[in-house]
Amino acid sequence: MSATAEPQANPLSAGLERLPVHPTTLVIFGATGDLARRKLLPAVYNLAHEGALPERFQLVGVSRGEQTDEEYRQAAIESVETFSRRPPDPDVLARLFAEVRYVQGAFDDPAGYERLDAALAELDEAGGLPLNRCFYLSTAPSFFPVIVERLGAQGLHRHEDADVRVVIEKPIGRDLESAQELNRRVLDVLEEKQVFRIDHYLGKETVQNMLAFRFANGLFEPVWNRNYIDNVQITASEDIGIGTRAGYYDESGALRDLVQNHMLQLLTLLAMEPPVSFTADQVRDEKVKVLRAIPAPDPARIEEVAVRAQYAAGTAAGEDVPGYHGESDVPAESATETYAALRLEVDNWRWAGVPFYLRTGKRLARKVTEIAVTLKPVPHLAFDQAGSVGVLPNVLVFTVQPNEGVSLSLGAKIPGTRMSIRPVQMEFLYGTSFLSQSPEAYERLLLDAMRGDLTLFTRVDEVEAQWRIIDPVLRGWAALDGDVPGYEAGSQGPEQAHALMVGADRWRRI
Ligand code: BG6
Repeated sequence: MSATAEPQANPLSAGLERLPVHPTTLVIFGATGDLARRKLLPAVYNLAHEGALPERFQLVGVSRGEQTDEEYRQAAIESVETFSRRPPDPDVLARLFAEVRYVQGAFDDPAGYERLDAALAELDEAGGLPLNRCFYLSTAPSFFPVIVERLGAQGLHRHEDADVRVVIEKPIGRDLESAQELNRRVLDVLEEKQVFRIDHYLGKETVQNMLAFRFANGLFEPVWNRNYIDNVQITASEDIGIGTRAGYYDESGALRDLVQNHMLQLLTLLAMEPPVSFTADQVRDEKVKVLRAIPAPDPARIEEVAVRAQYAAGTAAGEDVPGYHGESDVPAESATETYAALRLEVDNWRWAGVPFYLRTGKRLARKVTEIAVTLKPVPHLAFDQAGSVGVLPNVLVFTVQPNEGVSLSLGAKIPGTRMSIRPVQMEFLYGTSFLSQSPEAYERLLLDAMRGDLTLFTRVDEVEAQWRIIDPVLRGWAALDGDVPGYEAGSQGPEQAHALMVGADRWRRI
């Protein structure tokens, strides 16, 4: 390199530059809960580590228990040390939490909001300007509307010369009606542009990469329709059981826990029309159109399009594990599904007639989240019969986790004198193509919420459109007599799921 030459920029680090964020106070309601400890505080730390937080950043924890600022500071440091994706740098950690505040208060007690108001005013004063406020509701869902209403009553839903945003975790309701009620109560206090409904799958790099693949490459769009695509399979399988979450999970079940939100989001990104621009509303408009194009299942014929099941005892990672009913705190009679599979259609010009298969479950053979797009077979095979045996339709797979990447299966000739074909994989793997480690979903989403970018958050009409699809399934299942079918822990799921497949379609191996 000559003495005057500019240093070479690393082309692979493009996109990692920092976007400016207005000085902000992040207030975590449910500051001592599981989500805050495992995800939010480590995410804040990693943002700090990368210099992505605003220059003036303050953290306030709100919870019911009594503790001092110092005790909360210690607890926050400990959470980061335990759960951060990278070992924390002690200096960054000490600086990040140096001025952390803890405000004690029951979420429905006005006195707590007065204390919070005073603490926020002090932080503004110390900062010399009004800081934006980002309230993160990481509490039990029953508190979401209460907290928003109390924030409103205390006047904390607005802030002169600064923005106020509220992040709401899932679940947004437990059916259409309760979701509408929650949305109504929230929007009585806040404007839609202040509401950040989290679906953490949208923060995953590979999920966003589906948009890059579809809309930054000329290769896919011409075949991205019913003429070339045979079927789409979306899998979100987990090998873990429900652990200690029976209290939440037994009330929820697999359909509400993963399908209503994460899986339908994956479907919309795969099926949506190209937005005119990547602004929040343009993207969300297109996603809502997809959801509206999905005909709601008929509850009276639910078994034709939906399968539920519950795990029975089996083995996971070589160890014997109990069935769902053997997990602690699961009611003896529980009919909650730990597995759900659906066949949906997107009834529009692009997708009519293409089955979209969705399945999710706990205690399946392994953890994998992927979207597999199978193309139609070629119209004619000119090879002799023996040579044609390995010719399979092309499958494009977006693997969200683990081994994040995209692969395309192609038929290739096996070297030798005979014309024999077998599938080979063309693969792009994040780990080998990019030098940086992918940020955790919560890092991206927290930063976007602080920046006020709503693109990766679900809009009110979107959430309700999701429930319009899920509600009839819940109703159909509730009306079914008999036991919920079982599947062995560590297996591929229930036999019954095969009945959802059309023609020669088969579930992919988990
Ligand atoms: C959560 C569900 O939303 O997503 C959990 O409540 C599930 O039950 C989790 O385990 C899966 O997320 P991830 O990022 O591990 O795929």
